[in-house]
Amino acid sequence: MNGLNVRALQEAELGEADRIMRLAFGTFLGLPDPTAFMGDADYVRSRFAADPTAALAAELDGRLVGTNFVTRWGSVGFFGPLTVLPELWDRGVARRLLDATMPILDEWGVTHRGLFTFPQSTKHVSLYQRYGFLPRFLTPVMAKPAGPNPGATGWTPLSEMTDPEVALAACSELTGQVYPGFEVEREIRAAERQKLGDTVVVHGLAGALDAFAVCQSGPGTEAGSGVCFVKVGAARPGPDAGERFRRLLEACEAFALGRGASVVVAGVNTARRGAYRALLDRGFRAEMIGVAMHNADDEGYHHPDAWVIDDWR
Ligand SMILES: CC(C)(COP(=O)(O)OP(=O)(O)OC[C@H]1O[C@@H](n2cnc3c(N)ncnc32)[C@H](O)[C@@H]1OP(=O)(O)O)[C@@H](O)C(=O)NCCC(=O)NCCS
Repeated sequence: MNGLNVRALQEAELGEADRIMRLAFGTFLGLPDPTAFMGDADYVRSRFAADPTAALAAELDGRLVGTNFVTRWGSVGFFGPLTVLPELWDRGVARRLLDATMPILDEWGVTHRGLFTFPQSTKHVSLYQRYGFLPRFLTPVMAKPAGPNPGATGWTPLSEMTDPEVALAACSELTGQVYPGFEVEREIRAAERQKLGDTVVVHGLAGALDAFAVCQSGPGTEAGSGVCFVKVGAARPGPDAGERFRRLLEACEAFALGRGASVVVAGVNTARRGAYRALLDRGFRAEMIGVAMHNADDEGYHHPDAWVIDDWR
């Protein structure tokens, strides 16, 4: 398309980028007021703040018409939300944004790449297939009321720990056991710096780290008012991982209650059979279902022994 240019998103454009993101999803989902999509939750500002160098803008004749956000979790890379102004759909804007997204993932050298999308949309699935992504397992985004008496013990918010840097390194060491090079330091630091929430740290024997979860809550975060959203969490793999994961879920509920959130939201790729079953057993129910698409059909960290919460939205 003539006049279409893809470049880095600028901070001054965040308001319009946010409007386009809500309008695009709200239109696709058929909401009566498309711009009401996500209520007071936010993706655009928080993801831009987490890494402004990985936020792409499409402009047409100088006007912002679409964006995409790329996230690096160590050796893992994913992107989204990818959104285009509805009046310009099916004219190749998303393709141009994706053409600029792939080199970012290449440059990072991530070994596992993916995205979350709508499984029922032939358009979405075929769009991403053109870039080498294949649909694999479903990823339900699940919710349950917090509490009322989770009774969780043996956990601490990272912000209250005497040496948070040591705990942060332990979190990366734990995720590295799940998948080589996988770490979510970016999310842990974003939660702290942007005051999106905190990281729930579940202690094991002799000061070891058994599990952790980065939890966002409140307006202006990916959770929104009254909700605690587990952006990413993991329990140490190996024997008794299920028990560690169960304690992590309890701790997240206790954290939610302490933050005044009445609902906990957590997504899980259903290839992680144990984690998915544990969420079901605890009373989590799917609010929506997406599908994870993986580059080169790579399994990555989505298998029964990976006790990980995340949804890549
Ligand atoms: C999804 C979205 C980003 C796509 O943007 P877009 O600019 O319309 O996409 P493009 O025109 O670049 O590419 C669409 C491709 O899908 C193809 N397509 C469209 N409808 C299709 C269908 N029903 N079946 C198969 N392919 C289809 C088009 O032909 C095009 O491929 P081509 O260039 O090879 O012909 C946009 O529709 C949007 O913002 N949707 C709402 C938000 C959203 O769902 N974001 C993605 C979340 S994962």
